Amino acid sequence: MEFLEILRKKRDKEPLTREELQFFANAAADGSVPDYQLSAMLMAMYLNGLSDRETADLTLAMAASGDTADLSGIDGIKGDKHSTGGVGDKTTLIVAPVAASCGVKMAKMSGRGLGHTGGTLDKLESIPGFQAELSRERFLEVVNETGLCVVGAAGGLCPADKTLYALRDVTETVSSIPLIASSIMSKKLAGGADCIVLDVKCGSGAFMKTETEAKTLARAMVEIGKRVGRRVAAVITNMDLPLGSAVGNAVEVQEAVAVLNGKGPDDLRAVALTLASTLLYLCGKGDKAACEAMAQDAIASGKALQALERMVEAQGGDSRYIREPDRFPQANVRYVLTSPQRGYIAAMNAEQIGHACVLLGAGRRTKADKIDPSAGVLLAKKTGDFVEAGEPLATLLCASESLLPEAKRAFLGALRFSDVPPAPEPLILGTVE
Ligand code: URA
Repeated sequence: MEFLEILRKKRDKEPLTREELQFFANAAADGSVPDYQLSAMLMAMYLNGLSDRETADLTLAMAASGDTADLSGIDGIKGDKHSTGGVGDKTTLIVAPVAASCGVKMAKMSGRGLGHTGGTLDKLESIPGFQAELSRERFLEVVNETGLCVVGAAGGLCPADKTLYALRDVTETVSSIPLIASSIMSKKLAGGADCIVLDVKCGSGAFMKTETEAKTLARAMVEIGKRVGRRVAAVITNMDLPLGSAVGNAVEVQEAVAVLNGKGPDDLRAVALTLASTLLYLCGKGDKAACEAMAQDAIASGKALQALERMVEAQGGDSRYIREPDRFPQANVRYVLTSPQRGYIAAMNAEQIGHACVLLGAGRRTKADKIDPSAGVLLAKKTGDFVEAGEPLATLLCASESLLPEAKRAFLGALRFSDVPPAPEPLILGTVE
């Protein structure tokens, strides 16, 4: 097969066959086609689009470009959950133990923070001893023993996506819905779960800034799942402001544990319960009302918290940090940032808040940066709240005072004040099944 001929077809808006898409994915995985030709193809796909059939074929081809997780050693129905990325998004730490305590096996591969968005592995690694890299055998053992395990994606999974994602990042071709859908879903399919709930974030802190974009992406990903026989549902959730009150790593684990203890912020609990009950429903655990009740009971009975404790212990972590979250070391600097003016908080740009957290040390600016697990932000006010001048807006947590000036500027730059309260925004914008 000639790559130039495939490239010509996409340039001229002709549909690509399954074999041609497989050729492209294999070439990305094994380096047999140079990056400039792969990039030209990505731009042609970006400009001319891919049909649903082409998107599904590309996804399968990418999923088959490397290893696929063999979960046949795990008994029972396997579930997975994926978020398109947000700020303060610690829902995996709640959804996975809730689902596991209801009998779903959660064999989950997660990522690290990316740009202004946090990553589940970085959060879990704030627990002393926690191991995110396990052998395949140990991964399966932990899932069978405890019902859940969260690890980093194995190196050989979806090599085509690794190449294509890096090229998209530097060729202005990231924001293509078929390319995002195939990138995310290829990794989910290679991850091997039977049922997958997707949290498609929408708003200032998300990849998809508008509801229309988020819904289109959600539909594209659910459609791929349907075509390949996996049970997939997408919940579109508001990311116009951070989720919950804590943004960082250790502070997010503490907040997730608070929800598992029946406390914590209402928005976080509501999003996590919606995702968990949607996953239970996909896994055939009952009708929607029964699944909602089951998810709530997993928290009220303490079973979900115990599931998280068991997982942390099985992955080498000190589970006392889950039982007694006050054990997490406090940041050296705890700076109370006060409001420069009186009024309602009309908007809170979540991407900029995430950026302020990165400046405080909670995320990476370069690949080599080390995360400070204690760094982050505790929000005292959120969109819609009224604040007096001089009243606390947030506590900024970091290792050194030298980090404060830039982070304060970024945080305050994220806020917009108004004399009138903003119209309330829904937390859940829709579900695609
Ligand atoms: N996350 C991914 O894994 N891929 C994308 O293209 C976007 C978000």
